[in-house]
Amino acid sequence: MDAIEKLLNSVLPEKKELIALLECDDGEVWEKLFGAARAVCEKHYGNKVFARGLIEFTSYCKNDCFYCGLRRSNSKAQRYRLSFGEILERCESGYALGFRTFVLQGGEDGYFDDESICRIVREIKRRCWGCAVTLSLGERPTDSFKAFFDAGADRYLLRHETVSARHYALLHPPEMSYAARIDCLYALKAIGFQTGCGFMVGTPFQTTEMLADELAFLTQFKPHMAGIGPFLPHRDTPFKDFGGGSVQTTLKMLALSRLLCPEILLPATTALGTAAAGGRERGILAGANVVMPNLSPASCREKYSIYDNKLNMGAESSEGLAELAARMKKIGRVLATCRGDSLVKN
Ligand code: 5AD
Repeated sequence: MDAIEKLLNSVLPEKKELIALLECDDGEVWEKLFGAARAVCEKHYGNKVFARGLIEFTSYCKNDCFYCGLRRSNSKAQRYRLSFGEILERCESGYALGFRTFVLQGGEDGYFDDESICRIVREIKRRCWGCAVTLSLGERPTDSFKAFFDAGADRYLLRHETVSARHYALLHPPEMSYAARIDCLYALKAIGFQTGCGFMVGTPFQTTEMLADELAFLTQFKPHMAGIGPFLPHRDTPFKDFGGGSVQTTLKMLALSRLLCPEILLPATTALGTAAAGGRERGILAGANVVMPNLSPASCREKYSIYDNKLNMGAESSEGLAELAARMKKIGRVLATCRGDSLVKN
């Protein structure tokens, strides 16, 4: 079997085959693979694209990742925290719009201790009956994750950022460790969360070999979801002078992830939508099936600046839900606000 045939059978090709394929720029080959990825996605999830209401509830972060605009050393970053009442209000208005998944995303902010997160989760679950709550607040001790799960949180997103420990050390300060990150991911899964990992495409020092390793990692870790988006520079970070990740390479990685992990949930990320006009649609046409419109208060959106020019209005926002639905319809998809659980078994 050649590499393409293996992919069409959800078999992981050899590393050298994957590298050669990722480096191949034959448009016909990729149209075929994108089409196959779409077909696999449709087989499992139909024509639905799941919408998640994203609430960026704190822009404070104790970490100092070299790529991210919210890093603690960025004194120009505007910091805010939503109150308990504001978070609930955002969820309830999202619920009225039809959203049945809320993603609480924030920097690693110690202000929100375990009990305050549990209280928020319990109250969302009480007021928004039948919804799923996804947390994305970085690394915490296993007992904290357990407490969140017991409070009713259903899912947890924690991108591993890169599969290579050596590369991880080039993207993060020494106090952060790849091993700690991966340990969190395994802990989350063991607790019973629908777990999302993920990585950026085109970060400084990333090689094609690393991208091949990312695919192997997905087949081995078997996440319920994976966030895959291009790196985009932020002007107030150490990586400001690096170029952004390639849209085409991101699309290739989405398609190969879909083929190798047929039941995975894959968002067409905001970063992909920011990197190219119609980027989100192109992501979906390459195998993605989730979008995450912003439910944060309009006054905060500019402040949650992880990279330059981040989209937050129009189809990216909850007000633009009708526009987003129209855009999905144009590419033959239906925007679905149901829970949209992952079909991957724990
Ligand atoms: N470009 C693209 N994605 C970024 N993230 C953080 N900074 C950037 C950037 N400059 C991603 C990371 C993080 C997620 C919340 O956003 O993968 O996990």
